[in-house]
Amino acid sequence: MIYSKFLSVGAYAPENIVTNEDLSKIMDTSDEWISTRTGIKERRISKNEDCSDLAYKAGKNALEKSGLKAEDIDLIIVATVSPDMFFPSVSCIVQDKLGAENATCFDLNAACSGFVYGCIVASSMIKTGEYKNALVIGSEVLSKLLDWEDRSTAVLFGDGAGAAIITKSETEGIIAGATSSNGSKGGSLSCGALDVKSPFTEEDNIKHKKLIMNGREVFKFATGAMVDNINKLLEKTNISLDEVKYIVPHQANVRIIDYVARKINEPIEKFYMNLDRYGNTSSATIPLVLNEMDEKGLLQKGDKIILVGFGAGLTSGALILNW
Ligand code: COA
Repeated sequence: MIYSKFLSVGAYAPENIVTNEDLSKIMDTSDEWISTRTGIKERRISKNEDCSDLAYKAGKNALEKSGLKAEDIDLIIVATVSPDMFFPSVSCIVQDKLGAENATCFDLNAACSGFVYGCIVASSMIKTGEYKNALVIGSEVLSKLLDWEDRSTAVLFGDGAGAAIITKSETEGIIAGATSSNGSKGGSLSCGALDVKSPFTEEDNIKHKKLIMNGREVFKFATGAMVDNINKLLEKTNISLDEVKYIVPHQANVRIIDYVARKINEPIEKFYMNLDRYGNTSSATIPLVLNEMDEKGLLQKGDKIILVGFGAGLTSGALILNW
């Protein structure tokens, strides 16, 4: 039996900190509104760095901690919705910068669920026996996709990257994943790319190359999908929530996480959060949290952890693992 497990995690966030106070100077908002509605106090905004720069730094950090060499990596998956270019992929750029010449590389677009999807794909590829060491990165510069005139979205997001090395193992690390997607709700969180007609509306969407969101619709989807995927995992694996030490949720809004905690009857302390300092960094939130928990020594070998995310698509996914 071939298993897969997390070997190391890493992260990188731009130095530039933008607080709620800073935002209130450039738009009609306040620290009070943002804090109470979302839990966010500040976020990092990239100045001169693109998605691949952040991805490379997070990936390098995870690689250094793993004890592996760049040549040992045979798979690189970057989950992102804010790539430098349509092509080449961010993962190919990262491969070149790292010197990971033996890696097969591709990007994956599942928005904020991207890191979870990436880990599931990497784990499945390792379990075929064809791959040994995968580098999975979530990296975003959403600040470049935001409409800074739209206070209802601009205050929510930030930039950052997180990474994990997932490796072939003789003991069970990654236990199971659960995913789902709902393309019929795609229009509730979207961002145009080419000059084409929007698939979501009859109207011409050509000029719309910024993120737009129906916050309430996404809120509703997020809470339902997170609870469903956690329950699916528990059913699939016969593991009870009592055995799970931490739940690492996508970091979009503390109210979403509160709702999920109440719905599954678990104390909020079981859900680790750092969204007060980073905001929603999309695919980067979960690995950024994992890295912070790892650096704080909160994760012990064998601890059962659930990762659970949701995002544009709409997509959602969860993963249960032994650390
Ligand atoms: N500052 C001050 N006021 C703001 C504001 C801001 N940044 N953004 C919106 N408002 C105002 C609105 O204009 C509205 O005013 P009105 O009542 O006069 O019309 C009021 O605040 C309430 O807005 P509403 O959208 O109802 O707030 P909400 O409680 O639903 O919270 C979100 C909005 C976006 C925080 C919340 O819906 C949410 O978190 N949704 C999920 C989004 C998400 O997770 N996205 C990421 C997916 S990966």
